[in-house]
Amino acid sequence: MIEWGISAGAHDASLAVVDGDKILFASHSERFSGIKNDKWLNQQIIDEALKFGKPDKIHWYEKPWKRTARRLYCGMGWNHFSPKKYLKEIGIDSPIEYASHHESHAAAGFYTSPFFGATVLVIDAIGEFDTASIWTCAGHHMKKLWRMKYPQSLGLFYSAMTDRVGLKPNEDEYILMGMVAYGDAEKYYTGVRGLWEHENLHRGCRSWRHTDNDLDNYSVAAATQKVYEEEFEKLLIRAKELGHNQDNLVLMGGCALNCSANHIARKYFKNVWIMPNPGDAGSSIGAIAANNRRKLKWEGPYLGADMGGEYPIKKLLTELHKSGIVGVANGRAEFGPRALGNRSLLADPRGHDIKDKVNVIKKRQKFRPFAPVILAEYAISSPFNSSGNDSSTSTTEQRRLLRGMTDFRVEMITAAALLMDFVVNTYAIKRIVCSNYSLKEGVLFS
Ligand SMILES: [Fe+2]
Repeated sequence: MIEWGISAGAHDASLAVVDGDKILFASHSERFSGIKNDKWLNQQIIDEALKFGKPDKIHWYEKPWKRTARRLYCGMGWNHFSPKKYLKEIGIDSPIEYASHHESHAAAGFYTSPFFGATVLVIDAIGEFDTASIWTCAGHHMKKLWRMKYPQSLGLFYSAMTDRVGLKPNEDEYILMGMVAYGDAEKYYTGVRGLWEHENLHRGCRSWRHTDNDLDNYSVAAATQKVYEEEFEKLLIRAKELGHNQDNLVLMGGCALNCSANHIARKYFKNVWIMPNPGDAGSSIGAIAANNRRKLKWEGPYLGADMGGEYPIKKLLTELHKSGIVGVANGRAEFGPRALGNRSLLADPRGHDIKDKVNVIKKRQKFRPFAPVILAEYAISSPFNSSGNDSSTSTTEQRRLLRGMTDFRVEMITAAALLMDFVVNTYAIKRIVCSNYSLKEGVLFS
């Protein structure tokens, strides 16, 4: 049976096609329309999905009436969105089944994870009325143990601070995370913590320190991250307790993209799985998983449109040696916001200006992070120290070693570190690093 999962109408629409336990296709709408975070489906993504057959059933990632009720409660007025009507308008009339917003997040994570049983922690801005939730999952069973309700929301807090520094909320949170390394967390800590504790941040906090013409946005970002990490740790402790000391954690929701904070999870859980698309777009897979309650075969994040062809290892190596930077677009596109090797820029990490060169090519700010890739065996004993579960090297030691080795901001290296686990050990980039590449340092990609 061909089943489609759809997440659309809010931000970053996506469509997944599943047959039994096989994920045949999953992609963001934006990859076809060229509109960043496009919230609607388009004919091209529908045509791509139809290559796998007509859908027998549609799974929608949230409950529309609950969403309408919450919007009314939030003072956003009556504005009911009917997925059924919307899908009919774009020519899709298969039967629809709905899943709850956080249930879709939890199921996307658990049913793609390698675990038979796990505690699942979901943190996002808002989904129906929930803003965070803790689940216990085993086999076909999912049970919600706890939830945080609107207006208290770590995701809304982070988005409000993103807006306060002049970036785009619900889109640029990763840029705020990249700014953290340049700021002083203590400078505005008390004020930012006060915002988290006492304000409803759904409509932002632009009035906070609005007369301060010299507001140091980097330090606002640093204080935001500090408060986020403190609250994130409290949620991890709660998840550990409610999950009866379970060793396996699945972390989901848009906040699971905060890879600077994610390392904290390893303090409390031996094994951590973050599906590479943990936000609402990943819930296209999640809606199917939530309604069927069975494991999906996870073979990697390369689930999008296929450009075909062999991975051009030789060409890439030649170009890397020659110019230090090379772009690659090959095979199936990544499902998720991170470039993981099939649509990526690769760079030789030697040379003090390589970071700036890549940033110029990509027209992005100097502080934006990179993902370093090295072989797991070097990662464990190197200052990156992230691959596997070895966390014996202290952060101070990592910083000392990295200062001597590169001019990258240490926090950026660690920010990207969690990515390495599912890149280095599994996917195509490993072939580049392994293929007679003279560098133990590996490559950077972006
Ligand atoms: Fe969400």
